[in-house]
Amino acid sequence: MRLNVNIDHVATVRQARRHIEPSVAMAAMICELAGADGITIHLRGDRRHIQDGDVRLLRQMVTTFLNVEMAATDEMVQIAREVKPDKVTLVPENPGEITTEGGLDVVKGGRELARAVERLTEAGIRVSLFIDPVADQIEAARATGAQEIEICTAVYADYTTPPSPFFRRAIPYDPARGQQECERIREAARRARSLGLSVAAGHGLTYRNVRAIAAIDEIEELNIGHNIIARAVLVGLERAVREMVELIRRVR
Ligand code: PXP
Repeated sequence: MRLNVNIDHVATVRQARRHIEPSVAMAAMICELAGADGITIHLRGDRRHIQDGDVRLLRQMVTTFLNVEMAATDEMVQIAREVKPDKVTLVPENPGEITTEGGLDVVKGGRELARAVERLTEAGIRVSLFIDPVADQIEAARATGAQEIEICTAVYADYTTPPSPFFRRAIPYDPARGQQECERIREAARRARSLGLSVAAGHGLTYRNVRAIAAIDEIEELNIGHNIIARAVLVGLERAVREMVELIRRVR
């Protein structure tokens, strides 16, 4: 099983101040040093976190594997053809969304997606489609010519993540249904592999819920972001405060 670390939210913190820290490139290097198999970033249309310059810099610095998530727009396809990441994962993007809301509708939008897949493949880029674990979507994905799918684990993640006191979610915490959703993901992964597609998975995976998904043999790669960066803030905070305390106490 390979792990690509999604470092979008390192850029989210940087963009909060429009400054240079924390460095997205340095974060990528640390992930690689720690054993990540690849780096994932999402260049969104609204550029809310990752910027075009990050994509170009990471292309030069990442020596493992660079996976860029993007919408299948002409603008994004053109950027990918220039920068040439190792893989492009095509994702849906809706205005105003907090994060990607489910998979692509390949059944409906197959023709347009196939055109994007063709233009990316032509440039030597591997293409994956982010889809829900639904048989029709898998078959439609294969028909586009993409070599790979990424199964959206967002529903599984909601069922297996305890409720937050701050936000209401459409899908309630329900571990038994989480297990059913995990079976649906396993079936989808099997179906995709039987059609010759490579299979990745991701969205909402955490230290608590990742193991059942990681145990699915047909899934070869996970893309995990928010929960790793969230944990990094907490496990790194004590050291960061100690360093500041030491620095100011040395002066006085
Ligand atoms: N895979 C895809 C296609 C995504 O859009 C995202 C979120 O950017 C992820 C994986 C990672 O999700 P999370 O940040 O919840 O781990």
